[in-house]
Amino acid sequence: MTMGTSAVLAGLGAWLPQRVVDNDELARRLETSDEWIRTRTGIRTRHIADPDISTVDMAVHAGSAALRSAGSDVVDALVLATTTPDYLCPASAPQVASELGLSGIAAMDVNAVCSGFVYALATAAGLIAGGIAGRVLVIGADAFSRLCDPDDRTTAPIFGDGAGAVVLRAGTRDEPGALGPFDLHSEGEHAGLLIVPAGGAKQRRSDDPREHFVSMQGTAVFRHACARMTESTRALLDRAHLSVDDVDRFVGHQANIRILQATAKHLGLPEERLVVNIGHTGNTSAASIPLALADACEDGSLRPGHRVLMTAFGAGLTWGSTLLTWPDVKPGSPR
Ligand code: COA
Repeated sequence: MTMGTSAVLAGLGAWLPQRVVDNDELARRLETSDEWIRTRTGIRTRHIADPDISTVDMAVHAGSAALRSAGSDVVDALVLATTTPDYLCPASAPQVASELGLSGIAAMDVNAVCSGFVYALATAAGLIAGGIAGRVLVIGADAFSRLCDPDDRTTAPIFGDGAGAVVLRAGTRDEPGALGPFDLHSEGEHAGLLIVPAGGAKQRRSDDPREHFVSMQGTAVFRHACARMTESTRALLDRAHLSVDDVDRFVGHQANIRILQATAKHLGLPEERLVVNIGHTGNTSAASIPLALADACEDGSLRPGHRVLMTAFGAGLTWGSTLLTWPDVKPGSPR
């Protein structure tokens, strides 16, 4: 971020669909087991949105909670990180803004898949640093279960649905809640590692229904995730003139508990500083980091004054990280 204005976290919200699907339920229709899913991924249950709940609905719930937490409905812009917008066209952010009573503000979607929330934070911080917006609502919302073939045991157990949000306001670099620096990257040559081949502009329809669902090369994704989140964390800490010992809470994208543990090991970070909620959420893509922040606030493991490092990795490939000192902010209740 340039001199002067910084983006400061001023509100937090989270929302999960009511329906909880446990591993035994999946094991009744897929060739898998609770034991396999738990030990290979750390996931016990995930929330799945009923068919009448869309990404916009989830984003509105989480967004309203973040506005309530911030104590004000006033924002100038909304950035929605999602890979599962309600429509291919238009983007979902304008509809979310409208349903929150914010019609008229700047609103756009950002798609960086599971890194979406960190990318959306960077986008919003840029709007604030550039003087384009004074307060921005940043939402990460994904109904990723809609992209999973229910008969594919390699993806269906991993992903869940949900939404999380923060309010950012203009402030100064040295106050609690100030975000930055940022570290963002991509490598499009690995797009095929996690992809939904059909349904986009390149191939609107495929005769093979499986091409309309996500396919994933799990082992390669696992390796990239560990390496990239480790690299990005180191680069960010270097830029901030900090060391791993200065990180009180490490909020990594909740893709697999073994990815988080391996990353912590590479970094020399004690495991008790990891924020982990994947056990009850699964991988919620762009919602993962704000949902983890909200859970950690609720259970008391994240407290004002903690230095928090957030790092994410996703399809694209994309990855990135940022830092803040946790301010006196608690999750608001959804409307
Ligand atoms: N239940 C039982 N067995 C399963 C299974 C399931 N749900 N899914 C895969 N298997 C099988 C495989 O078919 C394979 O069998 P084989 O040895 O007979 O070929 C075996 O388990 C091992 O598969 P592998 O893919 O090597 O396992 P893994 O240890 O790499 O774990 C993932 C698989 C998907 C959990 C892991 O690779 C992973 O988490 N990858 C990253 C996924 C991710 O984070 N994606 C989102 C990124 S943002």
